[in-house]
Amino acid sequence: MTLPYAAVTMNTQQRYQEFSAREARGHSTTYAELTEGVATDRDLLALIDLLPQPKRQPNLLLAAVRFLGGPVNGYPAFRTWAIDHWPQVRATILERRTQTNEPGRCACLLPVLAGLPQPLALIEVGASAGLCLYPDRYRYVYNGRTRIGSDTSPVTLTCDAQGDVPLPEAPPEVVWRGGIDLNPLDVRDREDVRWLESLVWPEQDRRLRMLQGAVEVAAAEPPLLVRGDLNEAVRELLAQAPAGATPVVFHSAVLAYLSSTEREAFTETMRGEHAHWISNEAAGVLPSVQQRLARPVPQDRLTFVLAMDEKPVALTGPHGQWLEWLNGP
Ligand SMILES: C[S@@+](CC[C@H](N)C(=O)[O-])C[C@H]1O[C@@H](n2cnc3c(N)ncnc32)[C@H](O)[C@@H]1O
Repeated sequence: MTLPYAAVTMNTQQRYQEFSAREARGHSTTYAELTEGVATDRDLLALIDLLPQPKRQPNLLLAAVRFLGGPVNGYPAFRTWAIDHWPQVRATILERRTQTNEPGRCACLLPVLAGLPQPLALIEVGASAGLCLYPDRYRYVYNGRTRIGSDTSPVTLTCDAQGDVPLPEAPPEVVWRGGIDLNPLDVRDREDVRWLESLVWPEQDRRLRMLQGAVEVAAAEPPLLVRGDLNEAVRELLAQAPAGATPVVFHSAVLAYLSSTEREAFTETMRGEHAHWISNEAAGVLPSVQQRLARPVPQDRLTFVLAMDEKPVALTGPHGQWLEWLNGP
């Protein structure tokens, strides 16, 4: 995933080069090739540079071209199509956001959620379409052998778990769920779902199937999603959580979209609330979590830090594909 604030110090060419080499390579040959192509294409770079800074993200351009039906098989066809259709590509980029909703992240949240007093009232900030609000409805397979959750779920999340992960026998009990997003996506809206599908990288068929299954789960009982800024809306939503349930505010891949001042404001808000706070963000995004890490996060792969009430508990794969427990059960 592209980290918007982390990336603003790079120019567009560096950003596409970095995305190709560090994010796409090994995960999507198609995206690695396309972004490498963009990084050396003066014409396309000039068009991208006319976009507002936060809209120059590689993921956004690539998803917009796919959403509009453009070709992604080979750089020459991609760049010709993108330049020929730039007004539509630009309009889609300006209208939409990188709102990748990754239910796979629930596999990393599960041990922490299940360890809290049950039942839970879940509040996700930066929820996108709210697909991470259903950790109780998915099936989990850890290390190919430990199975948790219902066999009948249309979603199976697989995760490579290292260390003393306190894997539960059953998913958590969720009695209430609500989310906040600047732009909530609606799982019942065909165009919103197509956008979510366009955000899944080519070749990642398993992630696409998980997404489609999670959309099915959420559409059967759509979540309460509030439109707004997390700093402004979180207290009010928390106040709606029913008594008798443990309130939990959580987020993944969200705080990188905030300025450091906004992140500090959110940290202060959460410290003042009687709710557990689970963060799953790229290393370095939350300074108070980063400072409590006993050892530096390895730089050889993109890594998130899972923390409970600012205490780091695990390193995680950005899409929930792996989990490395830090502090024992
Ligand atoms: C990359 S998506 C992650 C979605 C979801 N948390 C997940 O893990 O699948 C980030 C989401 O955060 C939302 N977002 C970013 N800044 C926000 C803010 N200040 N307040 C509320 N939502 C925000 C975006 O609109 C987007 O839907």
